[in-house]
Amino acid sequence: MSDETEKNLALGKQRSSHGRQQEEGVLVIRTVAMPADTNPSGDIFGGWLMSQMDLAAGNMAGRVSQGRGATVAVEAMQFLRPVKVGDEVTLYATLRKVGHTSIRIHVDAWARPRYSDKAQKVTDADFVFVALDDEGAPRPVFADM
Ligand SMILES: CC(C)(COP(=O)(O)OP(=O)(O)OC[C@H]1O[C@@H](n2cnc3c(N)ncnc32)[C@H](O)[C@@H]1OP(=O)(O)O)[C@@H](O)C(=O)NCCC(=O)NCCS
Repeated sequence: MSDETEKNLALGKQRSSHGRQQEEGVLVIRTVAMPADTNPSGDIFGGWLMSQMDLAAGNMAGRVSQGRGATVAVEAMQFLRPVKVGDEVTLYATLRKVGHTSIRIHVDAWARPRYSDKAQKVTDADFVFVALDDEGAPRPVFADM
């Protein structure tokens, strides 16, 4: 591999890894904000972003509880900056607490303009899930607890 190809590969890896942001948690979802996700003003609808965050937290909760669950609370949600059409949106999840039947997960959402390598945090919140049994009643997250 030539020096230039190696250099380009290293730079590409640096850009594609999102560097420091990986410290925000586990990268669970990366998607692109589309025109169908906008509000009447043309910015991305907050409800779309919340659903992506819920999906990311639910994905982690499902891995932790190894079964069905439901969102019981969303706390401390902040919308720090707008998300624009075409932004690459990345959801990072961090496990904060595992109770008897509940799981608390912090989610950070970052947006990177389509033609930029600079991403910024746009939203964060805590999601609380309850592990459910087949009847939809709370069940212990870990069977032996
Ligand atoms: C999830 C559900 C079965 C829980 O029933 P519940 O009677 O509230 O259950 P409990 O009171 O036993 O609480 C279960 C756990 O959730 C926690 N919890 C309940 N409400 C909470 C709240 N508002 N915030 C934080 N934690 C909460 C409890 O502390 C408990 O945690 P622990 O077992 O780790 O100590 C019930 O609330 C429900 O079906 N909610 C609707 C869920 C749903 O449809 N979500 C999708 C919305 S579109």
